[in-house]
Amino acid sequence: LSAGPLTGRRVLVTSGPTHEPIDPVRYIANRSSGAQGTALAEALRDLGAEVVFVTGPADAPRPTGARVIEVQSARDMLEAVDAALAPDAPAIDAAVFAAAVADWRVASASNSKIKKRPDGTTPALEFAENPDILRTVARRAEGRPGLVVGFAAETDDVIAHATAKRLRKGCDWIVANDVSPATGIMGGTENAVTLISDAGAEEWPRLTKTETARRLAARIAAHLTGPDHE
Ligand code: C5P
Repeated sequence: LSAGPLTGRRVLVTSGPTHEPIDPVRYIANRSSGAQGTALAEALRDLGAEVVFVTGPADAPRPTGARVIEVQSARDMLEAVDAALAPDAPAIDAAVFAAAVADWRVASASNSKIKKRPDGTTPALEFAENPDILRTVARRAEGRPGLVVGFAAETDDVIAHATAKRLRKGCDWIVANDVSPATGIMGGTENAVTLISDAGAEEWPRLTKTETARRLAARIAAHLTGPDHE
C-alpha cells in the first residue's frame, strides 16, 4: 500500500453485473462490463485505501491490491456486503455501489436443467424483486458507512431522475450518467457524469473511465479527510 490521503481508510466497492439463475446452466444478466467499478477500486487503492471489492461475474479484469470477493446473484452480493459491514468486521469509511444489480431474479430457479418439452410448449418465467443493496446500506440505522455513493444510469432527464433517486435511496452522492446508445458510454472506455450531492448537481466533462474514477476517488478522499469532516 502506498502512503496517500486514504491510507488507513477502508472503502467498499460493488461492481459488475449480477447473474440470476434460471436453472443450473442458465441465467439472466446485463451488459455491465465492470470497467468503471474496477477503475474506481484501482484509483482508491492508488490513494492508499484498503479496498474491499465485491464483484459479480464481470468481464473486466479484477483490480490488483484489493480484497476481491466474487459473487453471482444480487442476493449473494447483499450477503457479501452485509458481511463486510458486520459489527465485528473492520469499519468501512465509504461504500460505492457501482454494480449493475439485476432488479429481478427468477422467483423459483429450477434445481435441475429445464428440459425442452415434447409438445412444443414453452416454460414461463416468473420474477421476484431483488433486494436493493444500496438502499439497504444507506438506510441502515447502525454501521452505515460515513459516505454512501450510488450510481444512476439514465437515458432521459438524467439530473431530475438521479436527484430523486438520491433521496429515495438515502445515499449521500449519486454519480449519474446518460447511457443512451448515442453516447457510446455503456461498454465504452469513456464516461460523462454528473455528481449529485446535497450541494446540487456538478457536471463533469467527458473523460475516460480511469480519469472519472480518479476524480471520484479524489473527491472521496477530500470528503473523508477534508476540513468539513467531523
Ligand atoms: O435503482 P437503480 O438500479 O437505477 O439504482 C442504481 C444504484 O443502486 C447503483 O448504485 C446500484 O449499484 C444500486 N443498486 C443496488 N441494488 C439493487 C439495485 C441497484 O445496490 N438491487
